[in-house]
Amino acid sequence: MDGRMNRVIVALDVETADQAMGIVRACNGVISFFKVGKQLFTAEGPDVVRRIKETGNRVFLDLKYHDIPNTVAHATVEAVKLGADIVDIHTSGGFEMMRKTMESVEEYCAGHRVSKPEIFGITILTSLGDAELDRIGYAGTTQDMVGRLAALGHEAGINGVVCSPLEISLVKETCGDGFKTLTPGIRPLFAQSLDDQKRVMTPRDAFDAGTDYIVMGRPITKAQNIEEALQKLEDEIR
Ligand code: C5P
Repeated sequence: MDGRMNRVIVALDVETADQAMGIVRACNGVISFFKVGKQLFTAEGPDVVRRIKETGNRVFLDLKYHDIPNTVAHATVEAVKLGADIVDIHTSGGFEMMRKTMESVEEYCAGHRVSKPEIFGITILTSLGDAELDRIGYAGTTQDMVGRLAALGHEAGINGVVCSPLEISLVKETCGDGFKTLTPGIRPLFAQSLDDQKRVMTPRDAFDAGTDYIVMGRPITKAQNIEEALQKLEDEIR
């Protein structure tokens, strides 16, 4: 499998585990990483994660934990027990929340000889613009806040951040190349529609800009023929 295709995560934004497993089967041999978010997890619970893991694929459990340090640390360890390969938490939960989570995950993984998942931080949701940040009470622009929160996450020891493809270079410049980025807001050239995404980048441009993972949903999951869409994606990325 091509190195870049290994780092494409398909978002399973569907209602049922059966629909999700249908997509996983259609992606067999081409995509090995799937995102389970709040919709599917709320509908089907942890079993859907176990079912995907049983097929030998990796799971990004996208539940964006944000709570007091003790609660987030324990929830993240439960995600590790489920077998999640990537888990995300909000950087705005603060330094101690991130630090304690990393410490608890490391302790659990060392004690149980399981491999450590990557913990990603949410900085500023791409749905929030400068005006909304101002209303919330954040000082500075989106760019300022993304840089600042990424640096805080880096200091707390998380592995990277979820960000817009337009922020890849800002994050890498602020935190170094080893600090990873995971970017949604991706639309391949063959996509018929941007759906509700506004500022998008093609998969190829995002990888060229240095992103570590891309997340893509509808251009694949809503395609008439998923196998064909994946073939086009592979051709485009190469
Ligand atoms: O279908 P689409 O490719 O737009 O799906 C993108 C996925 O990434 C969705 O699951 C969406 O919730 C998620 N996401 C996003 N923008 C963010 C964070 C997450 O699109 N800033």
